[in-house]
Amino acid sequence: MTNSETKATLSFSDGSPALEMPIYKGSIGPDVIDIRKLYGSTGMFTYDPGFMSTAACNSSITYIDGDKGELLYRGYPIEQLAVNGGDFLETCYLLLNGELPTADQKKEFVATVTNHTMVHEQMQFFFRGFRRDAHPMSVLVGTVGALASFYHDSLDINDPHHREVSAIRLIAKMPTLVAMAYKYSIGQPFVYPRNDLSYSANFMHMMFSTPCEPYKTNEVLVRALDRILILHADHEQNASTSTVRLAGSSGANPFACIAAGIACLWGPAHGGANEAALSMLEEIGSVDNIPEFIAQVKDKNSGVKLMGFGHRVYKNYDPRAKLMRETCYEVLQELGLQDDPLFKLAMALEKIALEDEYFVSRKLYPNVDFYSGIVQRALGIPTALFTGIFALARTVGWIAQWKEMISDPEQKIGRPRQLFVGAPKRDVPAIDKR
Ligand code: CMC
Repeated sequence: MTNSETKATLSFSDGSPALEMPIYKGSIGPDVIDIRKLYGSTGMFTYDPGFMSTAACNSSITYIDGDKGELLYRGYPIEQLAVNGGDFLETCYLLLNGELPTADQKKEFVATVTNHTMVHEQMQFFFRGFRRDAHPMSVLVGTVGALASFYHDSLDINDPHHREVSAIRLIAKMPTLVAMAYKYSIGQPFVYPRNDLSYSANFMHMMFSTPCEPYKTNEVLVRALDRILILHADHEQNASTSTVRLAGSSGANPFACIAAGIACLWGPAHGGANEAALSMLEEIGSVDNIPEFIAQVKDKNSGVKLMGFGHRVYKNYDPRAKLMRETCYEVLQELGLQDDPLFKLAMALEKIALEDEYFVSRKLYPNVDFYSGIVQRALGIPTALFTGIFALARTVGWIAQWKEMISDPEQKIGRPRQLFVGAPKRDVPAIDKR
């Protein structure tokens, strides 16, 4: 970041002295006003619930232009990475290291990740403590957090080698844990990873094969899963990433930080939206019911939202949603499900919403979650696991952001302040006087 020649001046109508604040320029995107001296100079905080106007860090990983509907990982457009940027592990390498790998670097990276796909054997006993009908996200919060009790040799966040090893472990073990959560929920034996398969093919093997029957991987479906993972890999300072950074700012270990990110992702306004969007489509049921549903969405008292629509940053079509719709089409075609009623319903709903004044005036467009549920369902992934797949994919983004934060010299423990509106100091009355 560079200093701008322009400065911001904050003046007060009560005659208090004005405060001049520096402005910094990034490489692209909005400039920021440095308000760090504000409290020291004026005794006042800024007030910004929901971080509507607050940049909490500087970052060189992911850039979103919400007005244009553009998403860049390390400068590369998501469309190029998803269509001809290689597989998910190339995207992982890019996010972690800043550049796409050469052929040799990729070979080494794939070998390193592959070397860490198994989880400690004791983990399966940890799994057995959960009810079989537990939500996979709660299982993932627990088991990912528990990794810290198994891998003591990579917990020193001040040691770059430890950081590297824990990053690789998390990326390598997430598919194993997500598949274990699924197998546990349906009462099937856990399936060990197969290191001769690609990252996505191995995940499908752990999900769908059994000791009595191998799973035949289908290239189109493996590519579709890989694309889902690439599209969800990072998304700058969203709620779960900010959670990971905030947890990490206290010096917590990476497994604990990623568990915190998974907990945040679970919410329906964030990663839980893919599950909610599919349930919504199932509830609407048929194209004939769309007008009634849209009327409910527009009625502010109903509490009904069009799930998979709207975004804090995108005020245009989410570029990931376009790619997801394409993938949806390819997968359904491959499986002979081109007449899938939910896909038809989703397209009709999208069309009607995009022409409706309510959505147009609020710049509400489909986001990545609108179509991802339909693709995942077609791949055989159960609805309850959709957000777990999102967590699997986002782990690399969280870990890249966590690593960036740890090595940022400006990093401090995150400590937001507040506008206190409660009772001022008072004396505790005796119980008979209350
Ligand atoms: N359906 C109906 N109305 C909506 C929707 C929606 N999906 N999204 C926003 N609005 C309305 C909202 O009621 C408000 O209207 P008004 O100005 O009349 O009060 C206006 O649009 C602005 O919305 P907001 O709530 O101020 O926007 P936000 O930036 O705080 O919320 C959001 C963003 C993603 C939480 C929200 O759009 C939403 O809840 N969408 C549905 C859930 C969803 O699909 N989430 C996935 C996001 S993408 C993947 C991810 O990040 O995990």
